[in-house]
Amino acid sequence: MIAERCLGTEQSEIRKIFNMATENSINLGIGEPDFDTPKNIVEAAKLALDAGKTHYVPNAGILELTSAISEKLKKDNNLDISQKNIVTTCGASEALMLSLFTLVNRGEEVLVPDPGFVSYKGLTELCEGKMVPIDLDDKFRIDLESVKNSITDKTKCIVLNSPSNPTGSVMTKEELKGICEIADEKNICVISDEIYEKIIYGKKHYSAMEFTDNCILINGFSKAYSMTGWRVGYLAVNENFDNKYQILENMMKIHQYGFACATSFAQFGAVEALKGDQNCVSEMVSEFERRRDLIYSGMKDIFSVQKPEGAFYIFPDVSEYGNGMDVATKLIQNRILCVPGSAFGKNGENSVRFSYATKYEDIKRALEIMKNVLL
Ligand SMILES: Cc1ncc(COP(=O)(O)O)c(C=O)c1O
Repeated sequence: MIAERCLGTEQSEIRKIFNMATENSINLGIGEPDFDTPKNIVEAAKLALDAGKTHYVPNAGILELTSAISEKLKKDNNLDISQKNIVTTCGASEALMLSLFTLVNRGEEVLVPDPGFVSYKGLTELCEGKMVPIDLDDKFRIDLESVKNSITDKTKCIVLNSPSNPTGSVMTKEELKGICEIADEKNICVISDEIYEKIIYGKKHYSAMEFTDNCILINGFSKAYSMTGWRVGYLAVNENFDNKYQILENMMKIHQYGFACATSFAQFGAVEALKGDQNCVSEMVSEFERRRDLIYSGMKDIFSVQKPEGAFYIFPDVSEYGNGMDVATKLIQNRILCVPGSAFGKNGENSVRFSYATKYEDIKRALEIMKNVLL
């Protein structure tokens, strides 16, 4: 009964792990901010509801939002992207899906950093493409030569994710430029997932779209504004790229038939997120940084670990104590929820992903338990 595209795709490992959780577990597994959505954003959505903004809106999103996103891209990323080249989606997740489903034919190849976010592989498999892992080194850096060597005549795109889930690394301007040059030379598309753009500690975020026309930029509201349940994200397609291939027109077929539009009143909240006071973002990021410092200094006494530069994950090598699955299982049995690194690719097999989007005191307690259990 079931289509091969589903049968050929595995469920995320993360679900299985969470089923092992007990009520008093400390949750270092979850990939979402533990803060409430800022009040001004909630109020804007409530006003929209009261004003009856509960009907279908244009497929690409309300004009107020796509215009605000266009202004944001100019201000933050120095990009001139017309409002017409932006699509509001049901989270960055839908934007990733639209990108891959629009570009990838059966059997075509998608380059994905390994370790990398779980959806890249899952979505590639669902559109019957082939995921080609790009090995990151032990400092989670991407090697330009191995990107070049992985490109075949079947390669359609490369997915970049900076700051990264699960590694917490941030790509340098030179790394991004190098990959974008390869994309131009080989005419492949860079799908740049920038959902953690704002969650960055003392480094500068660069968008791949600054360095290549062959780019689909993906971002959203889930992480920066703690709006995971609102399901609003977006994508922007470079104008030259779109003129050449009519990417948006074709993407719209999937968005229109599959989703129609992102939730109307949530989009009004998203407008307020972009246009309102940005202190909520800096306050959240400084709290994440305080937690990053705590978890990093605790973990470096236990594991071999890189200091995260962005996002809210830390990805230590745990091989001193067993593989990632063994160590994660042991920790979960001791009430610390975490995710075995194998969920993020072969190169994650000796690692465990911990999220520090949880209370400072809980991180402290978790570090104590880890020391007792492992040392
Ligand atoms: C790297 C990355 N991209 C995309 C997403 C999806 O975000 P959204 O909630 O906007 O669908 C996530 C969520 O965890 C993520 O970690």
